[in-house]
Amino acid sequence: MTGFFSKESNSNPAAYSAGAPLKESEFEKIRRLVYDRAGISLGSHKKDLVRTRLQKRLRVLNLGSYGDYYDYVVNHDESGSELIHMLDAISTNKTDFFRENQHFEFLRNEALPKILELKNRRNDNRLRFWSAGCSTGEEPYTLSMVLHKALANTGGWDLKILATDISTRALERAVEGVYTEEQTAGIPGNIRSEVLTPVQRSPVKVYSIADKYRRVVSFRRLNLMDPQFPFKGLFDVIFCRNVMIYFDKPTQEALVNKFYRYLQPGGYLLIGHSESLAGATTSFKYVRPTVYLKT
Ligand SMILES: C[S@@+](CC[C@H](N)C(=O)[O-])C[C@H]1O[C@@H](n2cnc3c(N)ncnc32)[C@H](O)[C@@H]1O
Repeated sequence: MTGFFSKESNSNPAAYSAGAPLKESEFEKIRRLVYDRAGISLGSHKKDLVRTRLQKRLRVLNLGSYGDYYDYVVNHDESGSELIHMLDAISTNKTDFFRENQHFEFLRNEALPKILELKNRRNDNRLRFWSAGCSTGEEPYTLSMVLHKALANTGGWDLKILATDISTRALERAVEGVYTEEQTAGIPGNIRSEVLTPVQRSPVKVYSIADKYRRVVSFRRLNLMDPQFPFKGLFDVIFCRNVMIYFDKPTQEALVNKFYRYLQPGGYLLIGHSESLAGATTSFKYVRPTVYLKT
């Protein structure tokens, strides 16, 4: 075998740059590991994606095969940091500002007025939102922009948005909160100058999220597969969009039922446009496609 850091491994760096083959048995092991640790189901059509995305990790660790890499993650990664690198490489972080805008319209026009009314009746001024699977931050920052606008002149609300993801790489970018022109294209023209601060970073112009909109957002690493979440209070709205597509049906159902426990009565769960809870056993009330209510 090509041992970790062995002479044999070191002797032929060209073998890595050319890319080691990913054997079926190695793919099986890696896919089982990703499923067990992150709930992500990798179909057989993802074999090439796994090979190319993990190629760099083999190179960084100077390993000659994916079998060695698997062995390293399972048996030699005491700190767990390589597992994080592996999940970073495997996860898909595609996102956008104002993505699936109908959710933000729904929030502004229908959900929020109902939530505020309930809160007023309960004499509770806390508004708690959770972007679960927030990727590089566009979703929670959009939420912050929409909520600030909707709550302007209503006064006195204690707004907090929790944004979590399993990917440390995505979270680092989210915390930085700096985006290119192209990445901010989804932000409507009439609010751009208020919500974005231009930053000159040669050779391109980039934009930083204005302080007011950052202040209410907290980013944390959290694996949605954890049996319990470390939250004290309940949320009014949970966004978990375009995350569950990577999970199989039993994993989705278990997660959705966990979300239910962390929502206030009268709170909403919003999922991605290609996702659905049809066929899942949950206590949620269907409101409209991709929108569910805890009654
Ligand atoms: C495609 S992005 C969706 C981003 C955003 N919600 C949106 O709709 O634009 C999916 C995100 O889910 C995260 N993810 C995948 N599995 C996860 C898990 N087990 N726990 C937490 N986050 C996970 C990925 O790291 C990725 O950032």
